[in-house]
Amino acid sequence: MARNKIALIGSGMIGGTLAHLVGLKDLGDVVLFDIAEGLPQGKGLDIAQSSPVDGFDSRLTGVNDYAGIEGADVCIVTAGVPRKPGMSRDDLLGINLKVMEQVGAGLKKYAPKAFVICITNPLDAMVWALQKFSGLPSSHVVGMAGVLDSSRFRYFLAEEFKVSVEDVTAFVLGGHGDSMVPMIRYSTVAGIPLPDLVKMGWTSKEKLDQIVQRTRDGGAEIVGLLKTGSAYYAPAASAISMAEAYLKDKKRVLPCAAHLSGQYGVKGTYVGVPVVIGAGGVERVIEIDLSKAEQKMFDSSVAAVQGLTEACTKIAPHLA
Ligand code: APR
Repeated sequence: MARNKIALIGSGMIGGTLAHLVGLKDLGDVVLFDIAEGLPQGKGLDIAQSSPVDGFDSRLTGVNDYAGIEGADVCIVTAGVPRKPGMSRDDLLGINLKVMEQVGAGLKKYAPKAFVICITNPLDAMVWALQKFSGLPSSHVVGMAGVLDSSRFRYFLAEEFKVSVEDVTAFVLGGHGDSMVPMIRYSTVAGIPLPDLVKMGWTSKEKLDQIVQRTRDGGAEIVGLLKTGSAYYAPAASAISMAEAYLKDKKRVLPCAAHLSGQYGVKGTYVGVPVVIGAGGVERVIEIDLSKAEQKMFDSSVAAVQGLTEACTKIAPHLA
């Protein structure tokens, strides 16, 4: 059987980390794409030279022409610019929208059957625009945000409870940004919901609120420390789990920015919700009951995302 082909559109910090992870996990061959000449070729060669040590057979190549991604099974998009300290994800909109137009054209021409995972920020608006620019089915264009946000949430919770990260489950809803909605009552330690853990004296409501806020600010905390760019290890690991779910038809339930066609009362917008990812792409959007307070937070998150997509249509009216 032929090996899977995984195209990475953007070969910067996240792109390079993705390529390395694809190799280490032996998920398939990698084509790194970038507009910067030499960058994808150099990273591809560097990682390929680690393959004898780590024992993987992925072939890694770098290209500056979209023809190189032809026939890709999965495309992971990080092309664009990341944040610098003081910038919000939304400040990236104008520049990265133009990048999505180019990437969309490349996908349409060379990889129309691929499962596409977008990471470029501001995520919910960029994945929405990328789906429109590429014309690929919305089941095959999805945004990576919720896996990362919930992974950050899980990590902070595991630290607080002094238990293994493996035993903490958590998920967040809504847009990737300040309006994300961490779902306290659906987050657990080995099945015990967080509100019960408060009752059991494992933590306090105040401490949980602080962890929720730290999760919301998780990206900004890293930007503040790095100063020259944004997070890349955890975003890459999160996108790889989504790619793996698709390639191995795992039917994983993951929070992703998915196209809503009426679920949660939302139509034609991409926003973070739990979905099932398998060989059919986004096979199902899971609609959970929200409490009044959760619904309110979710609605304002959706409104924030819709504000950004409207800003996109002002720049590119044909997206409307
Ligand atoms: N086409 C292809 N690649 C492009 C284009 C374009 N039009 N414009 C920029 N790039 C490339 C850059 O040359 C760079 O190599 O995208 C890459 C982005 O890499 P980094 O600057 O290292 O950014 P990274 O940390 O990988 O983040 C990428 O993901 O999380 C988001 O906010 C983040 O939007 C940012 C994206």
